[in-house]
Order: sequence, then structure tokens, then C-alpha cells
Amino acid sequence: MDRENSIIIGSDHAAFELKEKIKDFLLSRGYVVEDAGADSEDSVSYVDYGKKVAGAVSQGRFARGILLCGTGLGMSMVANRFPKVRAALCSDIFSARMSRVHNDANILVMGGRIIGDILAYELVRTWLETEFEGGRHLDRIQCIDL
Ligand code: RB5
Repeated sequence: MDRENSIIIGSDHAAFELKEKIKDFLLSRGYVVEDAGADSEDSVSYVDYGKKVAGAVSQGRFARGILLCGTGLGMSMVANRFPKVRAALCSDIFSARMSRVHNDANILVMGGRIIGDILAYELVRTWLETEFEGGRHLDRIQCIDL
């Protein structure tokens, strides 16, 4: 597996449809995608899927993950409890870019009930293609884990 080119993605029912679309978007751009579920629009708990994706990133099995729920809030709360996970809830391009440049975010979180498909694709594209700046920002993110 090419770790740098592989992305693990997960959602609950509220963002299942957007997850499927983002999966296709990623595949069409040459990424390898691991889908952690959910598998349908049947009601599930975002916590289970957030843990799967954040756990995989925390353990270093994937360098990058994407999480979606209705607002993105629950997924952010779950993901950011995992060591070495820096999950960024984004609904604007500037935040998506800066979450990489300054925060080296390794999980992008979005709210399927907040943003539309086209904005979601642009957020994903921007986030994946923006590099971490390092330097003083590396010192700062190294202090995040307690
Ligand atoms: C599901 O109804 C909703 O609570 C969930 O998708 C998410 O928004 C939680 O934060």
C-alpha cells in the first residue's frame, strides 16, 4: 500500500451520500480509498465510524483520513481524542488550506448537512494538495499531545 496515496474515509448515515461522492472523487484522482463505513443511510452512531478512522490514523496505518457526519461536530470530538490525530472541521477553503499549512491536520472533517458537493470536493482537493509549513508550527503541534 502506498501510504501517502491512501486515504481512509468514514461517515455516519447523515453524510453517507456525500461520503460516496467523495470516494468517487478521490478514486478519479488516483487515490486509494479505504471505506470504513457506514454502508447505508440507516441510522448509526458517528462515534463508531469516527473511532475506526481516527484509530487507523493514530496508529499510523493511514497518513490521512476524512470524516463526515451531519455537522462534522461529533466526528471532530471523537477524532481529536486519539493521540497524534489532528482533525480539522472545515467548511471554507481558507481553513482547509491553513489546517495543513499551520496545523498539519491529518483528518479532514466536514458536515454533510452543512456544505454542498462542489464545496466538499474543493475542500478535499485543497486539503490534500497543501503541504505543512513546518518550522515553528512543528514545535507547536508537537506540544498538542498531552
Ligand atoms: C446524526 O443525526 C447527527 O447527530 C450526526 O450526524 C452529527 O451531526 C453529530 O455530530
